[in-house]
Amino acid sequence: MVIVMDTDATSTDIQSIVELVESAGGEAFVSRGVSRIVIGLVGDIDHFAMMNLRGMPGVRNVVRISAKYKLVSREHHPDRSVVQVGGVSIGPQTVTLIAGPCAVETPDQTLAAARMAQAAGATLLRGGAFKPRTSPYAFQGLGERGLQILAEVRQETGLPIVTEVVGAHDVAMVADYADMLQVGTRNMQNFTLLQAVGEAGKPVLLKRGMNATIEEWLMAAEYIAQRGNLDIVLCERGIRTFEPATRNTLDISAVPVAQRLSHLPVIVDPSHSGGRRDLVLPLSRAAVVAGADGIIVDVHPQPDIALCDGPQALVADDLQALARTMEDLAGFMGRHLA
Ligand code: E4P
Ligand code: PEP
Repeated sequence: MVIVMDTDATSTDIQSIVELVESAGGEAFVSRGVSRIVIGLVGDIDHFAMMNLRGMPGVRNVVRISAKYKLVSREHHPDRSVVQVGGVSIGPQTVTLIAGPCAVETPDQTLAAARMAQAAGATLLRGGAFKPRTSPYAFQGLGERGLQILAEVRQETGLPIVTEVVGAHDVAMVADYADMLQVGTRNMQNFTLLQAVGEAGKPVLLKRGMNATIEEWLMAAEYIAQRGNLDIVLCERGIRTFEPATRNTLDISAVPVAQRLSHLPVIVDPSHSGGRRDLVLPLSRAAVVAGADGIIVDVHPQPDIALCDGPQALVADDLQALARTMEDLAGFMGRHLA
């Protein structure tokens, strides 16, 4: 069961509900998004249904949710959500372009990639300072120094930063620098990390686990929401299948399916799914036409010497071409590029 609060509900209204639910032996989880506050109830739902929750001050609606995920479900939130990241909207009116280097390597490389992104019309800068690598011998990222470089580049360009956090113990430090915290595919079911980012007070980009079902992905989002944070953007980044021709198989149907089940925005990562520069444009086209709320792409000023994922990184001209195509397709879909 979920209680949807009025946007002008006071903290006293919210606290009264939490206390009432707790006095009835239940638990109440308060989650805040840009346009609403919802309270998820855990416990004896039939008993809650008999309490006059709907008549409490500040309550707009009380909804029984049949899905396993409650707070991120569309059942209590028929409109699709907009998530704000440093003043940039991700939601149903826009197609947001997020671009940047896979990994932060040097100040010059990061600034050059950010300039490429900005020149093409990207509004958010991606870049990893903590890299989740298959091999312990591969470049692991610059750590906090990488975050400092991202902050310097934000200062220079004005682009808000999306960056990955790989361990719960680093969440507070990464959140000090980031405008949006990314949870990568390999950590989608790292529940301690999900809870920590849920408490960090920053929007979260939650990538789909490469072996995860859509329901498991939404349950992972629920972990974040249950800790108080509804500003979550889902990212389809390809799943493992029997097909070796691409790095991962972009599950394009995940876009409309997740959007029908959840009110959260859904974006696509054509770089990590295809794993090849030449596939980024066609996969992005498919994503926008399928209804994706944005695209996150890797760019690099010199992909041949990139320390991570060079073969999938776009160069300046590729990104320009991608952005112009996205602009056209966004218009076709009744949206605009943001
Ligand atoms: C990048 O962003 C990831 O760290 C990378 O895709 C992992 O790839 P790997 O298997 O080469 O480490
Ligand atoms: C990334 O975007 O840098 C990344 C590591 O992606 P994924 O988690 O999808 O592999």
